[in-house]
Amino acid sequence: MPDFLTIAGMPRQELLRLLSATQKNVSIAEGRSPNRTTLNGQVIANLFFEDSTRTRCSFETAVHRLGGQVFNLTPSGSSISKGESLVDTARNIECMGVAAIVVRCAVSGGAKMVADGVKCPVINAGDGRHEHPTQAILDISTLMEEFGSVEGRTVAIVGDIINSRVARSVTHALSTLGAHVRLVGPPTLVSKSFERITQGPGMVLTMSDLDSALDGVDAVMMLRVQFERAAGGAVSSDYRQMFGLTPQRIAKLAPHVVILHPGPMNRGIEIDDRVADDPLRSRILRQVTHGVAARMAVLEMALGANVITAAHNRIEA
Ligand code: CP
Repeated sequence: MPDFLTIAGMPRQELLRLLSATQKNVSIAEGRSPNRTTLNGQVIANLFFEDSTRTRCSFETAVHRLGGQVFNLTPSGSSISKGESLVDTARNIECMGVAAIVVRCAVSGGAKMVADGVKCPVINAGDGRHEHPTQAILDISTLMEEFGSVEGRTVAIVGDIINSRVARSVTHALSTLGAHVRLVGPPTLVSKSFERITQGPGMVLTMSDLDSALDGVDAVMMLRVQFERAAGGAVSSDYRQMFGLTPQRIAKLAPHVVILHPGPMNRGIEIDDRVADDPLRSRILRQVTHGVAARMAVLEMALGANVITAAHNRIEA
């Protein structure tokens, strides 16, 4: 009953297997292929201690696409608002017979705390500044749809790196798969220590000049300035000019370069409207579709290797 808590340390083959499963799920996520029934009769709990649109709704959609049932628990209207802890909440929910718990929380390492406190599989839907592993799967799957493979590609991740669980998970995944990563932002939001966070073959560089960092890239991932994690204090009034992705900047990129953003976007700060909505380069909404596919793959993995193998054999048959 494996948990899915982190991309750090995940073997390349396992990552590729999950990505392959994700890609096979895309046509179901688009509603072009029939749903599966692998979660038939199983109930999944979405424990979201922090707000979410994409992750929560895509986990819900993924469960529906797999024939399971899902309920959501958020602080408002639950005993979390009375101070009940993350782990106590999860233990009580587990006793209701759920097959797996999906957890999002503000505490770095919170998903592991929950996993240590319950017996059912736990999936990390973003824990503080630590990791957002399903986001990495959907991001890489989106890039693989574009390029076939990410090996040898260069991806710039730009903005509030220090507070970003997305940057951590995506950097681990890209480097493991042999892609090179440029982490770009003001020195207040990027630490040189990030160059040593992963053991993968892909190189990780930190940079503070966006225009140099964009030279020769294959993809650019813009990150939201996380005002709720006090990043606003580290952002100067010229942030957009120095680190924003503007139409002038994308005009200099090679034609094949694509733009990603995990959402939600601060339009006019890290990304301009015309870039976010660029019909040729933006893959921001495509990422959301891959999000459903990735969460289907992760749920099937967490609930048993037999489920995933049987399901894929059926697709290939
Ligand atoms: N990318 C992401 O985690 O978005 P949400 O916060 O809306 O889930």
